[in-house]
Amino acid sequence: MVRHPPGVAEGRAGQAAPLTPSQARLLLSAEGQAAVARAHGLDLPPIAAAEAMRPLGEVGRLALEQAALRRRALAKHPDGDRLWWTAEALEQSTPRAVALHHARRFDGAPRVLDLGCSVGGDLLAFGARGIGVDLDLARCLLARANTGAPVACADVTRLKPRGWVFADPARRASGRRGFDPASWSPPLSEVLSWDVEALGVKVAPGIDYDQLPADVEVELVSLDGDVKEAMLWRGATCRGHRMTATLLPTGDQLVGAGALASVGDVGRFLLEPDGAVIRAHLVAELCDLVDGRLLDATIAYVTADSAVPTPFGRWYEVLDVLPFSLKRLRERLRGVGAVTIKKRGTAVEPEQLRRQLKLSGTGEATVVLTRARGTQIAMVVSPLAVPDPR
Ligand SMILES: C[S@@+](CC[C@H](N)C(=O)[O-])C[C@H]1O[C@@H](n2cnc3c(N)ncnc32)[C@H](O)[C@@H]1O
Repeated sequence: MVRHPPGVAEGRAGQAAPLTPSQARLLLSAEGQAAVARAHGLDLPPIAAAEAMRPLGEVGRLALEQAALRRRALAKHPDGDRLWWTAEALEQSTPRAVALHHARRFDGAPRVLDLGCSVGGDLLAFGARGIGVDLDLARCLLARANTGAPVACADVTRLKPRGWVFADPARRASGRRGFDPASWSPPLSEVLSWDVEALGVKVAPGIDYDQLPADVEVELVSLDGDVKEAMLWRGATCRGHRMTATLLPTGDQLVGAGALASVGDVGRFLLEPDGAVIRAHLVAELCDLVDGRLLDATIAYVTADSAVPTPFGRWYEVLDVLPFSLKRLRERLRGVGAVTIKKRGTAVEPEQLRRQLKLSGTGEATVVLTRARGTQIAMVVSPLAVPDPR
């Protein structure tokens, strides 16, 4: 059995009772599978369900937890209710739509080594070419059952990987999302030192891309408008663009072209870029695409005089622009009972502002708090339905 490296607890953080290898074996046994099927079929409140499973002892408790995880897993994986999970593995797993998108970069690979495969969220997407490695034996057992792929229990920091490699380092030391790549397991610097033909590394979207080696490409991926992660690509998985923003499920992509955005007056429309575009530092490219300009050189709002259809952001019509003042805003929102407050580049707390506005009435409004050329402004805007460009 491989020892865990320092800093990676065998009992994983964030999980009340991490699964041990013997518990994983029990769950995967015929007895465990029958218990999970039974727990899955119970249509009872939690306490009554626990009572119903109690006579089965440990396998009953594990099965009940597994059934609950499977229900939760459906939000990320279309077949999540047939896969094996631990609570933390489910939280860490790559949503299927995202995993399938990444896997396409490995289309030319004879084999893909998934180093730190957990229970197989990404490994599943590599199909018959995937080979998994994980430090946690319980996860290895579940990954084998989930994917049918060969999965080895080993410390990847002791391997010298070759060929096409995918890695998704663990980032949640002490139950907190770790933003320091040196604290990840394996550390990012170690993953980037692997001398491999092709590499894909899943990383936290907030890392400093400027610190990355020049031959690494970065792809920011959002799913249904939420930024899920950043991927680093190197070697044969590269596509020739230092920065890419990808929107899933559509697959629309915006790539870096060294654009420089101009700053100008508030136009008739305001565009709120998708988070992947912002995190990929491609707001200037988006300005080019929609013939827009920035309100402020440091803020990711785009303004334009016409609303060119784009999948890379959401358009609003600007109804009013006010200097930021509580009194002016309160007057402007007279008769409005419900307000959506958006903000960027201001310290104002939306909830506090909402209380201070003392709204009453039946109307609805959207207010954007931001800066225009360094000056605080408030805009009253209205979401625009712009036809999809495709
Ligand atoms: C974020 S999870 C991977 C999730 C996976 N991509 C998925 O979608 O299900 C990271 C995994 O790396 C494993 N790991 C961490 N350090 C490792 C090491 N030194 N060697 C092998 N595996 C390691 C952890 O046990 C954990 O299962």
